[in-house]
Amino acid sequence: MKVISFYDTKPYDREVMLAAEASAGLEFRFHDFRLTVESAATAAGSDAVCVFVNDKLDRACLTKLVEGGVKHVALRCAGFNQVDLVAARELGMVVTRVPAYSPHAVAEHTLALLLTLNRKIHRAYNRVREFNFSLAGLVGFDLYGKTVGIIGTGKIGRCAAEIFRGFGCQVLANDPCPQEDWARAHQVRYLALDVILPQVDILSLHLPLTPQTYHLIDGRTFALMKQGSYLVNTSRGKLVDTGALIQSLKRMHLGGVALDVYEEEEGIFFEDHSAMGLLGDDELARLLSFPNVLVTSHQAFLTNEALHEIARVTTENLSRSGASSEFLKGTVL
Ligand code: NAI
Repeated sequence: MKVISFYDTKPYDREVMLAAEASAGLEFRFHDFRLTVESAATAAGSDAVCVFVNDKLDRACLTKLVEGGVKHVALRCAGFNQVDLVAARELGMVVTRVPAYSPHAVAEHTLALLLTLNRKIHRAYNRVREFNFSLAGLVGFDLYGKTVGIIGTGKIGRCAAEIFRGFGCQVLANDPCPQEDWARAHQVRYLALDVILPQVDILSLHLPLTPQTYHLIDGRTFALMKQGSYLVNTSRGKLVDTGALIQSLKRMHLGGVALDVYEEEEGIFFEDHSAMGLLGDDELARLLSFPNVLVTSHQAFLTNEALHEIARVTTENLSRSGASSEFLKGTVL
């Protein structure tokens, strides 16, 4: 029986994975801490490790895993920036992921964040519970008729664009691999990023983090964006230069910012730090102090449908890791 060590697991992960374990003929060992070079020794004797977005599989960590007998890294997520793929290949490891579990979950959360922030639902909810029924300070704007920039029109970006079209927004898009047929069908126009930035009321990021996209949104980009425009990032924190974002907010250039991801989220997101009563990350603390910033803790994927699909595809990848890559349904990296 193959033994799989899971890292950075939470009760909701374990529940769905355990349901899949019984039928897959695999033995799962769950850890709640993250996989890094420091914790890699805990995988010794396992055939595979199963990791999430904030584990850190650099060359040193992968080397330790191989020394402990691990042959397969199964990502239970779509993004793969946390793994040194060159090192994994050199070490002869198979790396698999779940390329699409529910693009709808992430696209819908993008809209949930934007609507909450714009229509001040979070403030209204708290007010009404204290019997304060005043509307002062709760003015938002119609999404209808606004222009939205979608950066990255893969599975999630296309879903988000279609939802925005449903609200009656004009959608401009940027992607090095444009989907022309889809764009025609949904009246989406592809343009260069710098042409999009000054035109949009809302900029929404749906592209992967790679060395080329690190800090794609920086001081130069913010300067090109329209005064009062909104930024939504449900992709990866490091796409945005947080220092430049804070400067832009302080200058009141941006109208609002909704983030499901944060540049330095490792070790902060997914955990309860409330007992400490203070936040060690000064930039995150500053971001949270702006009334026009809304942050969720990397939860865009968190729907029942997505969790079950992640468990199903991950278990399939783990069961078939000895098979040739064509059986792994395009999940091999
Ligand atoms: P995908 O691979 O289907 O699409 C990504 C698109 O980005 C591709 O069309 C690609 O050509 C495009 N792209 C690459 N470089 C670009 C650039 N420099 N400028 C513009 N476009 C570029 O990926 P999918 O499934 O749509 O996911 C997008 C991202 O969403 C993932 O990479 C991941 O970082 C993030 N994500 C976040 C989740 C969350 O819970 N917050 C959950 C799942 C994914």
